[in-house]
This record gives sequence, structure tokens and C-alpha cells, in this order.
Amino acid sequence: MTDSATTTERVVIVGGSSGMGLALAAALVAEGAEVIIASRSAERLADAERTVPEGPGTVRSIVADITSETDIERLFSEVGPIDHVVTTAVDVEGVYQPIASFDLELARKTLDAKLIGPALLAKHARIVPGGSLTFTSGIAAYRPAPGSSIVAAANGALESLAYALAIELGPTRVNVVSPGWIDTPIWDTIAGDAKTERHQQLAARLPVGRIGQPAEIAKAMLAVMHNQFITGTVLHADGGHRLV
Ligand SMILES: NC(=O)c1ccc[n+]([C@@H]2O[C@H](COP(=O)([O-])OP(=O)(O)OC[C@H]3O[C@@H](n4cnc5c(N)ncnc54)[C@H](OP(=O)(O)O)[C@@H]3O)[C@@H](O)[C@H]2O)c1
Repeated sequence: MTDSATTTERVVIVGGSSGMGLALAAALVAEGAEVIIASRSAERLADAERTVPEGPGTVRSIVADITSETDIERLFSEVGPIDHVVTTAVDVEGVYQPIASFDLELARKTLDAKLIGPALLAKHARIVPGGSLTFTSGIAAYRPAPGSSIVAAANGALESLAYALAIELGPTRVNVVSPGWIDTPIWDTIAGDAKTERHQQLAARLPVGRIGQPAEIAKAMLAVMHNQFITGTVLHADGGHRLV
């Protein structure tokens, strides 16, 4: 890893145009990092860049679809050697679907974005010594709801992928952050008008008594990225959801 006292830390965040990825971008810019956010929509990326408060660091964006190997190869040939790579990308369309009406194409989209995409990042990123890869799984792997079988499986498999990559790519560190329910734009798509009610219902059951915030996941990601002795680890940031 570059010595942040003398050299600017460089970080790629795939999924950085929204939610947790965007919160991480803001936190890194506040720390002085050079941040590259990537996702599919140029418009969304441009809007996201504008929302990041000015800081000692910088943010810029590159359009890239994590499910396309061509895009991922191009992304890393543009950015060159990098300290940390993070993905929060998820294709929300196929995330929740009852198995009885299971749509294969949508299921593959979810697996491509959440599982195969991170493998492509591991294949093409040129991580500098001491750097890291951080993936995002989720509570569905541990407390699946009806209709969440595909994302539950993707999250569980992603954690196994990270364990294997930590062995294969060491000394590059590979970790996973597993969020509980976090108030991000994804919920507008998943729950629509029922979002607040569903959040309140879960909050009442959680030990912490509330839903999480994207900035709290950003802090969890920073912890695994920057601790040089953490690899092959899943950090749960779920307000105690696995216990209820
Ligand atoms: N929010 C929660 O309660 C929760 C709970 C558990 C786990 N998680 C997990 O946490 C992660 C982040 O979720 P979030 O709530 O922050 O989601 P979000 O706000 O919807 O952000 C998702 C990001 O992924 C990008 N994206 C989607 N498909 C992509 C693709 N094929 N290639 C590149 N970028 C892509 C989106 O931008 P474009 O659409 O422009 O590509 C967007 O920037 C996800 O992996 C999700 O499964 C979330």
C-alpha cells in the first residue's frame, strides 16, 4: 500500500454512484484519497460526483459494468496500479424473486453482478503491495426472507470466493463486509411506498433499534481496507440482525 503520509492513496469503488459505495467515496475524499467511482450509468455517476463534499481528496468516475470483462479490463488499464478496490455493485432487478416464478435471466444478472463481477475485479485489478479487495455480501446469506434465495446464495458464495482469493492472492488482502438493512436508494426499488413501514418493523426487532446508514458501512469498509492484518474476513455490520 502507498504510504498515505507521503503518497495519495488510490481507490476504485465499483457501485460508487449510490448508497454504500457513494458514502465510502465521500469518506475517502475526506481522508485525502484519490477515488475513482464506477458503475453503468454515466448520468448517475456525474450526479454522484457532485454530491461528494469537497475535501483534501478527489473523485472522478469511469463508466464500467462489473458483469462485462471488457469493461473491467478497460477500467483497470485506465486507472493503472491501485491501492484498494471495493465493489458494492448489485443488479437489483433479480434480487428478490420467489422460486416458483424464478426467472433464469434475472437470477444470472444477480449472480454476475454480485459473484462473478468480484472475480473479474480480482483477475484484472493491479493491486499494489499491501493493498486490498473488499466485496459486499449481505444479511440475506444469514437471515433469508422468502423470495431472496438467489441473493442469499450469491452473498454466501461471495464470502467463500473471498476466502479462496485471500489464499490465492496473498499478500493482497481480500475481505467482505456484510451489511444488514441499510437506508440506501435500493430500498425505493425493493419496497417502494412500503419502505418506511418495512424499515420500522425491522428496526423494532434489531438490538440497535434502528436501520443502518450508508456511512456506517463505509466505516466498516475502511476498517478492513486499512488494517494490514485483516484478510479472508467477513465483517458483519448489521445492527445485530443475525441474532434475531
Ligand atoms: N441496502 C441494504 O439494505 C443492503 C442490505 C444487505 C446487502 N446489501 C448489499 O450492499 C451492496 C450495496 O447496496 P446499496 O444499498 O448501496 O445499493 P444501491 O444504492 O442500489 O447502489 C448500487 C450501485 O451498484 C451499481 N451497479 C449496479 N449494477 C452494476 C453493474 N452491473 N456494474 C457496475 N455497477 C453496478 C449502481 O449503479 P448503476 O445502476 O449506475 O450501475 C449503484 O451505484 C449491494 O451488494 C447489496 O446487495 C444492501
